[in-house]
Amino acid sequence: MTRDEQKKQAAEAALDDIEAGAVVGVGTGSTANFFIDALARIKHRIEGTVASSEASAARLKGHGIPVFDLNSVDELPVYVDGADESNQYLQLIKGGGGALTREKIVAAVSRKFVCVADDSKLVDVLGKFPLPIEVIPMARSYVARELVKLGGRPVLRDKFVTDNGNVILDVHGLQILDAGKLEAEINNLTGVVTNGLFARRPADVLLLGTPTGVRKLD
Ligand code: 5RP
Repeated sequence: MTRDEQKKQAAEAALDDIEAGAVVGVGTGSTANFFIDALARIKHRIEGTVASSEASAARLKGHGIPVFDLNSVDELPVYVDGADESNQYLQLIKGGGGALTREKIVAAVSRKFVCVADDSKLVDVLGKFPLPIEVIPMARSYVARELVKLGGRPVLRDKFVTDNGNVILDVHGLQILDAGKLEAEINNLTGVVTNGLFARRPADVLLLGTPTGVRKLD
């Protein structure tokens, strides 16, 4: 079974978490794209969606699924999104697609965060995947110097601008043993918009596509 088949399997399993008449939070990336395509099959059963990126909004609209501004929505029963890494506590690294800030906002509003991924994303210790950090452009060098003091090797993501008009620093070489602490420390640096650690608001459920079926961790 290919990685993509595993992602698709996990994404389709997330349909079980969709309540009739709900507004659904939708993430970004290749696994989220499989979820969007699956959601299209039951679009008549939901009120609409909130998207975590312009790319996902365009894909949802392409399927004829309504996309609402988060500010016009009172509650989100569920948010479905992928991840770059998860540990056993369902603390995540996200932002490989650069949509981390909007993803974190949608996750914060959601009652339940269902993370969907192939099983290569489950790790013992977070940090092998470089940690994405969204930074206000004028603070780029300052934040990079501060990240070096925290033990990381920040690399500016080449020719990339986020949906919010900012840049991304991908931080290599971190071994993240206390994800909640590091998440707060990095967010405290002036000029950081947010970082890709989802530890203070981890996933509630992790659906992993495996060669033998979908494995659920919660
Ligand atoms: C985008 C993300 C994605 O969820 C993450 O990069 C995983 O992507 P994929 O599903 O393509 O493996 O955080 O910002």
